[in-house]
Amino acid sequence: MKFYIATDHAGYAVKGYIKDLLTDRGHDVIDLGPDSADRVDYPDYGRTCAEAVRDDVGSFGIVVCGTGIGISISANKVPGIRAALCHDAYTAEMARAHNNAQILGMGERVVGKGVIESILDAFINTEFEGGRHAGRVEKINAIDAEYKR
Ligand code: RB5
Repeated sequence: MKFYIATDHAGYAVKGYIKDLLTDRGHDVIDLGPDSADRVDYPDYGRTCAEAVRDDVGSFGIVVCGTGIGISISANKVPGIRAALCHDAYTAEMARAHNNAQILGMGERVVGKGVIESILDAFINTEFEGGRHAGRVEKINAIDAEYKR
């Protein structure tokens, strides 16, 4: 799988750890910044990651800020993107199986390294189930289309 990853300063400390986990598992990772723990604004990085995933069909994204909330909200503002803020392996599994999320959001101040690893593995190893869930995802896409300027 191909992943884009972006954080803010409050997610920066776990970025290298996440990149190592993904590359150890044979995935490609493109780091969209930041390059230091200096203070930045999470909307800039949520947006950058979401635009990269939107423009590279079939790719996935990972966004991390302190809570995971702000950067996930920001990523979701890009039409066509479904960014899921996950706190455990179950929510990560459902984000793929039911919501066909392309972007995984996490909060560095919320989850520790062991939980991050289990979240990543659940997200990576789960396929979208389609079926009844496909129509619901299409309804999400229809909201985007309706409000797109
Ligand atoms: C930064 O202090 C913090 O507000 C940010 O990382 C994130 O938690 C926002 O949702």
